[in-house]
Amino acid sequence: MSVCSLTRVFEPPVRRGLRGLLPRFGTEPAKPKRIVAVNDLNLDIAAGHCFGLLGPNGAGKTTTVKMLATLLEPTSGNASVAGFDVTRSPRQVRRNIGVLFAGERGMYWRLSGRENLELFGTLAYMTRQRISDRIETVAERFGLQDRMDDLVETYSTGMKQRLNLARTTLHEPPVLLLDEPTAALDPVAAREARHLIRQIAESGTAILLTTHNLYEAEQICDRVGIIQSGTLVAEGQPADLIRQAGEVPRLDLLLRGDLSTAKATIGSDGLWWGDVSRDGEFAVAVRAPDGWRGSEALTSALVSQGIVVEQASLREPDLEDAYIAITGSRIERPFIER
Ligand SMILES: Nc1ncnc2c1ncn2[C@@H]1O[C@H](COP(=O)(O)OP(=O)(O)OP(=O)(O)O)[C@@H](O)[C@H]1O
Ligand SMILES: [Mg+2]
Repeated sequence: MSVCSLTRVFEPPVRRGLRGLLPRFGTEPAKPKRIVAVNDLNLDIAAGHCFGLLGPNGAGKTTTVKMLATLLEPTSGNASVAGFDVTRSPRQVRRNIGVLFAGERGMYWRLSGRENLELFGTLAYMTRQRISDRIETVAERFGLQDRMDDLVETYSTGMKQRLNLARTTLHEPPVLLLDEPTAALDPVAAREARHLIRQIAESGTAILLTTHNLYEAEQICDRVGIIQSGTLVAEGQPADLIRQAGEVPRLDLLLRGDLSTAKATIGSDGLWWGDVSRDGEFAVAVRAPDGWRGSEALTSALVSQGIVVEQASLREPDLEDAYIAITGSRIERPFIER
């Protein structure tokens, strides 16, 4: 799947009708703006790879998925999905993708799980025999074998989402587009879904998924991209992004003693964050590029200066730290619990 300069602009709607007739209350409502939802996006996702698109609310993730799924026309640029152009060959694209959007829609609640899959299999031009074979396989894979003949309205949210994943993969498409696939799942179901998504990628499928769960992205994505206001601001393997963001391990200390002596011992380069808190204890966060080695040297130095180290915890930087650094939404706060 490859995306080249993909752009989508939403023009402000033309307001007609009642506007002039409605009473005015004080100020005029703000004029609706033109929104560049996706701006010059470039991506490449190979078969067998899972790409995670991350970004704040309104960044353009769903708009991207919709364009790749041929549900929304790009304003400019193009994308090739499973070897077909999304604007020139939308039918072929649709036959070769599985699409899942967050939320519980996308299923007929008054039909059973099996009837839903039969219906979607038929719409995907599968033969009767293949539909029934695949239903057995996906029902088992997604842990739904005992509930296939129950109405979907009797399913829990997690079961609906698993059925949704089963529907998405029923026709074994070479490309999957998953918009927040684990959003409504409980921790156990989300972990299972992640495991299944990873397995599907490893069986040779190209997957684009969006998520707000950075742990999830780090666990299952080969590469991730961070999109902000429609623009891709970073892209790479999770470990590369963490390095690129310049994130280092961080030592959180809860100290007792003289604050200025402690700060002088740590040094202004090492001090990430520091403040006085109640009862003579204060929390500081320290840059710890050498991990525990440097941290132990620092705590010994603090102790020799008469500072009591009440608590110390070292945290390796993760994708969440990189995301926060890249999107510029850092909140300087020690993690230590008191
Ligand atoms: N049909 C539409 N008409 C006008 N603007 C739209 C439309 N759909 C989306 N937008 C705007 O495009 C931008 C991107 O929206 P999009 O749904 O792609 O964000 P997102 O990254 O999926 O966010 P979230 O994390 O909240 O799901 C937003 O500013 C949104 O308001
Ligand atoms: Mg979205």
